[in-house]
Amino acid sequence: MIIHRPPFIIHHFTSLSSTNDQLKAMAAAPEFTCVVADEQTAGRGRRARTWYSAPGDGLYLSILFLPRSDSSSRLPLTGLLAAVAVAETLIERGVAGVDIKWPNDVLAGGRKISGVLAEAVSAGSESLRLVLGVGVNLNHRSFPSELSESATSLAIETGERVIVEEFRDRLLEKIAQWYELWRRGASASIIDRWSRLSTYARGKQVVVMIEDEKLTGVTDGLTETGALRLVTDDGAVRTILAGEVTKLRTGADLSLRHSSA
Ligand code: BTN
Repeated sequence: MIIHRPPFIIHHFTSLSSTNDQLKAMAAAPEFTCVVADEQTAGRGRRARTWYSAPGDGLYLSILFLPRSDSSSRLPLTGLLAAVAVAETLIERGVAGVDIKWPNDVLAGGRKISGVLAEAVSAGSESLRLVLGVGVNLNHRSFPSELSESATSLAIETGERVIVEEFRDRLLEKIAQWYELWRRGASASIIDRWSRLSTYARGKQVVVMIEDEKLTGVTDGLTETGALRLVTDDGAVRTILAGEVTKLRTGADLSLRHSSA
């Protein structure tokens, strides 16, 4: 089924292996083509993880962007703007404690509620095609045991179900607004909004894994291309382009965990 939500053209499927893979295979698709599925049988996350994609419970969505070739340094900001749009839509729907963990994991009450998988596809001399995949946990009442500590959903957080299509359309409106700003080069607005929505932007004690390297330090804002600045324990300033960030557990966190174990 094809649904028109300008500027988006949404291709809706009942079941797909992965909406990102389906959109990547639609080689001649125009910009703003969207693929949505009620379920994914092989939903993918970052770092070769899987994305739990139970039928009807979540939003599984991929969008095609065709960025101009002179915007390559700003490409990482597309993931950040998607996280901003998700966070704003969740807040509008009454979710409390929304946060963004760098670069684009959206959390509620410290648990993951949404993730973004941005994949660039370019064939030979063709211009870049960017597939931005967004997964949002909406109506899940529970998760498989391996995710039950780390994942949450809008229904768990608010006690109410949402109509997936309504959430999708509102999210798409916000993504279109933020993408337009991105296209015009308004990076500072995106970074500013991201930073106001994220407790990870500044002053957060974190551990960052970059391949096999482990850094600990305190976050110190984002660069204009969306990289994370980290003041490491030895006082050096590192600019993190890609890596896995986790909150450093304090003594209080550890003893809390101990007493509830
Ligand atoms: C992550 O947090 O690791 C990213 C998760 C991205 C999941 C979405 S769901 C729609 C799209 N299709 C996929 O296979 N993955 C993304």
